[in-house]
Amino acid sequence: MKCSTQVFKIGTSNLEEVIRTAARIIQQGGTVAFPTETVYGLGADALNPDAVSKIFKAKGRPLDNPLIVHIADQERLDMVASDVPDSARSLMDAFWPGPLTMIFKRKDIVPDVTTCGLDTVATRMPDNPIARELIKEAGTPIAAPSANISGRPSPTTAEHVISDLSGRIDAVIDGGAVRVGVESTVLDMTPDIPVLLRPGGVSIDQIKEYVGEVLVGYTDRPAGAGEAVRSPGMKYTHYSPETRLVLVMGNSSAVVDKIIGLAREYLDRNIRVGLLVTDETAKTDEMAEYVSPDRVFLLGSRYDASAIASNLFAGLRYLDMEDTDVIIADGSMGIAGIGAAVLNRLKKAADELIEVN
Ligand code: TXA
Ligand code: MG
Repeated sequence: MKCSTQVFKIGTSNLEEVIRTAARIIQQGGTVAFPTETVYGLGADALNPDAVSKIFKAKGRPLDNPLIVHIADQERLDMVASDVPDSARSLMDAFWPGPLTMIFKRKDIVPDVTTCGLDTVATRMPDNPIARELIKEAGTPIAAPSANISGRPSPTTAEHVISDLSGRIDAVIDGGAVRVGVESTVLDMTPDIPVLLRPGGVSIDQIKEYVGEVLVGYTDRPAGAGEAVRSPGMKYTHYSPETRLVLVMGNSSAVVDKIIGLAREYLDRNIRVGLLVTDETAKTDEMAEYVSPDRVFLLGSRYDASAIASNLFAGLRYLDMEDTDVIIADGSMGIAGIGAAVLNRLKKAADELIEVN
């Protein structure tokens, strides 16, 4: 599957030309990675089964994990989806373009490979001009999962895409760092009461304002009683650096104490530690004694979940260094707003979860 990957960097005056070239690759059944407001996606013509198969091959994605179909205007939704309820229309008016994916009954025009044979299809309209122009110019809906090797952290820059997929896809459009940083919220609109399948850029409270009741259909992972909780195993690990990740959650001062304790303990055992921490945790004096500064990645303020979301995946990639044996992650941010999505991704990435209070 070796191919040479073209990199199109968006400059001040080449947008139209890049979009035209990239759209042609999509029309001809190729694969193009492009920025959305959430993360970079790996796109192909959603209606062309051969093209969509290339996405699964390039990512090493399990064949039973369906793709999101991206559209650039609401009219296109009716081409791929049926039985769209009024409640979904009001969510679209409120949050599209934006980080909300909705699942509907699919139409036959969508091939099995895109939905993995399901009778439903996930759709969203991204809030990024490059993404929307590309979809419009290609003249077809674009299927796009996150543009990473399956299981790795999602890419928030073109460099992340290149490091994972260079030589495996036809092109990357480099539009700089993304804005949101975690993937879209996924909401199943096929039951009478919508079901939240993945927390993301639009929070459950925002959705409830428009549709009333929402059921929570995802689990982060079980957090049992007692201080230390083992994760259920690598099988459920996503977004993962190769380095072992220990997530410490709970109220902020207890989290800081625990992280310092762990860092000291690891240092005593000659285990090299990386820290993925909020600014407030990093400011603690003792922290500097145990961890060298180049192994500390600052996520942003504990009280600014949006900032943390936009830094999270870059941090997981940065700390995944050869000379680091374990990453300790700071789970002291709240679950309000996009914080729920941040903690969900951290829990899924973690090999071990420690709850303190
Ligand atoms: O923000 C995003 O959503 C990014 C950008 C590129 O748009 N895309 C993304 O795609 O995160 P991906 O493939 O990494 O995640 C899509 C999620 C998966 O968890 C998949 O299982 C779920 O959506 N999904 C897709 N179609 C579905 C369906 N018909 N029923 C249930 N879940 C579905
Ligand atoms: Mg993904």
